[in-house]
Amino acid sequence: MTALLSLRGVTAFYGAIQALKGVDLDVNEGEIVTLIGANGAGKSTLMMTICGNPRARDGQILYDGADISALPTHLIMRRAIAQSPEGRRIFPRMSVYENLLMGAHGRSAAEAEETMEQVFALFPRMKERATQRGGTLSGGEQQMLAIGRALMSRPRLLLLDEPSLGLAPLVVRQIFSAIRDLNRSTGLTVLLVEQNAFQALRLAHRGYVLVNGAITMAGTGPDLLARPEIRAAYLEGGH
Ligand SMILES: Nc1ncnc2c1ncn2[C@@H]1O[C@H](COP(=O)(O)OP(=O)(O)OP(=O)(O)O)[C@@H](O)[C@H]1O
Ligand SMILES: [Mg+2]
Repeated sequence: MTALLSLRGVTAFYGAIQALKGVDLDVNEGEIVTLIGANGAGKSTLMMTICGNPRARDGQILYDGADISALPTHLIMRRAIAQSPEGRRIFPRMSVYENLLMGAHGRSAAEAEETMEQVFALFPRMKERATQRGGTLSGGEQQMLAIGRALMSRPRLLLLDEPSLGLAPLVVRQIFSAIRDLNRSTGLTVLLVEQNAFQALRLAHRGYVLVNGAITMAGTGPDLLARPEIRAAYLEGGH
C-alpha cells in the first residue's frame, strides 16, 4: 500500500503553547484511519495543520508524494483534500442546496450537479431538505450537510473532525455507515478524528491514539479496541 498522507515529526504551536510534539502518522490510499484522543489532545490541531493553519513548525507533511507543509491553505485544498471541521460550520442562512454548492469550488456546473446527486444518494435527507435553511436543520442533518459539502469538491482525502459530536447514537450510526459505504464504493480515503472511540475504531481500518500532542499507540481498529489501556481510558467510562 502507498501512503496518500504521511506526517513525519510534525510539530505545531499556538504562540508558546506546543500543541503537536512530533507526530508521525500515515494514511494509505483507500483506508479509513481514525485518530482518537481526549479533550485538548491536539486532534483538531492535527487536522488543521494538515490544511496549513496553524502551520507545521518542524517535520514534513507529505501528500501524494509531495511536501505540502509550506503551501498556502487554498493550494492544499486544491490538491483534492477536503475538510469537515469540528462544529460543522455550515452557513445557517443559506439553503442546503446553496451550502452544497459552496463546496463545489473549482468544479463545473455539470460536475457540481452530478456530485450533488451522489451526495443526495448518500444522504437522502439532504434532498428532502434541499430548500431549507442550514440553520434550521437538526444536528445530525447539519453534520450530513457538512460532510456533503466537503464531498462536493470531489476529494481524494476527506478529513472529518468529530462528526459524532453531540449526536444521538442512532444518528451517529447512520453517519458512520454512510462513511463506510462511501469508502467501500468509491475508495475514498478518510482521516477521522473522534472522541467516540468505540464506533470510530470499529469503522476504521487502522487507528492512532493521540495524548498531549504525541502519538502513543497505533494499530488496526480491532487491535486497538482489544487493548486494555484503550478500554480503560476511552471505552469503559473513559468519556
Ligand atoms: N487557537 C488556539 N490558541 C491557543 N491554544 C489553542 C488554540 N486552539 C487549541 N489550543 C490548545 O491546543 C491544545 C490542543 O487543542 P485541540 O483543539 O487541537 O484539541 P482536540 O484534541 O481537538 O480537543 P477536543 O476533543 O476538545 O476538540 C489544547 O491545549 C488547546 O487549549
Ligand atoms: Mg477538537
